[in-house]
Amino acid sequence: MLLGKSSFIIALIALISPAACTPTQETNAQRMARGLPPSPPKFGRNVPGRIQVRQPTPVWAAKRHGVSPLPPVSYAGRIEVRYKDGRARGFVRNSNSSWTIGGVNDLGAEQDLHVSLTAPHSGKGPFDILATNPSFPEPFYVGAAGTNFISSLDLTSRNTIAFTNVQQTPGGSVPVSSTFKDNLLVESAIWSINPDTKEITGQWINPDKSSPATVIAYDIRANKIFFVGNIDAYNTNNDTPADTIKLFIVPI
Ligand SMILES: *[C@@H]1O[C@H](CO)[C@@H](O)[C@H](O)[C@H]1NC(C)=O
Repeated sequence: MLLGKSSFIIALIALISPAACTPTQETNAQRMARGLPPSPPKFGRNVPGRIQVRQPTPVWAAKRHGVSPLPPVSYAGRIEVRYKDGRARGFVRNSNSSWTIGGVNDLGAEQDLHVSLTAPHSGKGPFDILATNPSFPEPFYVGAAGTNFISSLDLTSRNTIAFTNVQQTPGGSVPVSSTFKDNLLVESAIWSINPDTKEITGQWINPDKSSPATVIAYDIRANKIFFVGNIDAYNTNNDTPADTIKLFIVPI
């Protein structure tokens, strides 16, 4: 054993006492007394005469906590309509009529709507979906439109909101007056995507800022896609009932 008794005790103190493990910072006065230059300023410390302009960003904070931020993901393709049991009904249409995108295309692949979107890595929205081959005039975002009379969804009502092309509106915003059509209140940034299944889901925001259940529904007789708060309420005493559907981004 090369270690003497006293060095053994010092080593033991170093193990027990956390303070003993922390090397003490030498002051510049001590460095200069030893003939050394002053130590360089540490990043992120306030140095007299310098203004610290960098604020911690979410990325910086994520790195600091050992989580590497994952980049956003872009998706492109068509929007496939599937029933709850997984059966595919077809793709959302691209029509230069008053219906624009609000139904399924039965007229061949040239009239399928193409879309693109960029989502956070988690897929969690709200974000926009852009129509990339519109055969209709502006606006070009795939979104939702209520009217001045009906612009709320809720769990107890049969109110509906249209699935249609709208102008871009901020994420989380209450409905915004359409700049293209009278009496319409619209939202574009309502979407989230499941990165595994590529299912897209919408979240309408009511004028009172609440976030209602936003069921995507399809009336096969009218070939119409729309949003509803309560599909059972919608179907009660209704000659043209609708099914709950799911929408998926499918590459072309
Ligand atoms: C849509 O149809 C109208 C005529 O109804 C036409 O003027 C317009 O150019 C068409 N838009 C596109 C993008 O094809």
